[in-house]
Amino acid sequence: MTPPAPAAARDRLRIAIQKSGRLSEPARALLSSCGLGWRESRDRLFCYGESAPVDLLLVRDDDIPGLIADGVCDLGIVGRNVLLEQAGEREAAGRPPASRELRALGFGGCRLALAVPEDWEWRGPEQLQGKRIATSYPALLQRWLAETGVQAQIVVLAGSVEIAPRLGQADLVCDLVSSGATLAANHLKPVQTVLESEAVLAGPVAPFTGPRAELAEMLLRRLDGMLKIRHSRLLMFQAARERVPVLLQLLPDAEPPTVWQVDGGDCLALQALCHGDVSWQRLEELKRAGARGLMVLPVERLLA
Ligand code: PRP
Ligand code: ZN
Repeated sequence: MTPPAPAAARDRLRIAIQKSGRLSEPARALLSSCGLGWRESRDRLFCYGESAPVDLLLVRDDDIPGLIADGVCDLGIVGRNVLLEQAGEREAAGRPPASRELRALGFGGCRLALAVPEDWEWRGPEQLQGKRIATSYPALLQRWLAETGVQAQIVVLAGSVEIAPRLGQADLVCDLVSSGATLAANHLKPVQTVLESEAVLAGPVAPFTGPRAELAEMLLRRLDGMLKIRHSRLLMFQAARERVPVLLQLLPDAEPPTVWQVDGGDCLALQALCHGDVSWQRLEELKRAGARGLMVLPVERLLA
C-alpha cells in the first residue's frame, strides 16, 4: 500500500468512518449506495476508492473530528454527540471551530442522557445541585448544566461510565442511551435528555477547493438523493380525470405527479413519488376513491 499523501498534495477525497461499532456498517452501506466502492486493503485501515477517487479511512469514531480539523480527512461519518463534544472542548480551550455537521444521516439514533440509580425519585434538574456526574461528554454536560443553572461536579471517565455510581465514583451518569439495555443492566434509569444524536456527515468549516471540491459536491448531491428517497416509493395508477383532485388530496406526501392522458382524454395515468409509507390501507383508500391499477415501485436512485 502506498502511504496516504498529505492534504495539500491530494486530489482524491478521503472520508473517515468508524472502523467497527454501531455506525460502521450503515456508513459504508450509505456511501456504497452513492456509487462508491473500495478495494479492501489487507490492514483494513485505508480503503482505496475504485469507482471514484474517494478513499475510506477506518478509524475510531472519537478520532474523526480531529482528523477533519487537521486536514487528514476531508469528510467523516460520526455521531453528532462526538462532533459537538469535541467542538465544545475546542471552544472551551479558546480555539476556533474546525469541523461542522453537513448532513444528518438518519441512522445511529441515540441520546445523551442523565441517568440516575433506579431507586431515585426524579423531581427535576434542581435535584442535581452539588451532585457528582460521571461522563465521557464533559463539554456537552457542562453546557447543559450552565443552561439549566445547576452546579454539579463533572467526573470525566473515558469509558465504563455506567458503573461509576456503583463504584462510588459518582452519584449519577450522563451517557449515551440507544436501546437502554446498558443502563438497565447497571440499575440506572434515564431521566433527562441532554442531546439528541444520530450519525452525521461532518466536514471542515472552510469550503473545499480544487478537485476535492467537485468530488465533495458530487457526493453531497448523491447523498441528498439517497436521503430523500430513503422512505420513498413510486406510486403509479390510473383514474378518471374528475377523480384526480380527490386522489391527490389522499397523497399529501407526494411530489407533484407526472400525468399522461389515456383513452382519448377521460382516463389519466399518474405517477407520483411518495415520501411516506404507501401501505395496503392507503392503496385501498385510493382504490375506493377511484384509482385503478395501483402499483408501488421501489426507488433506487434520485438525482435532483
Ligand atoms: C454507548 C454508551 C453505552 C451504550 C449504550 O457506547 O456508552 O455503553 O452505547 O447503548 P444501549 O442503550 O443500546 O445499551 P458506544 O457503543 O457508542 O461506544 P463508545 O461510546 O465507546 O464509542
Ligand atoms: Zn467511541
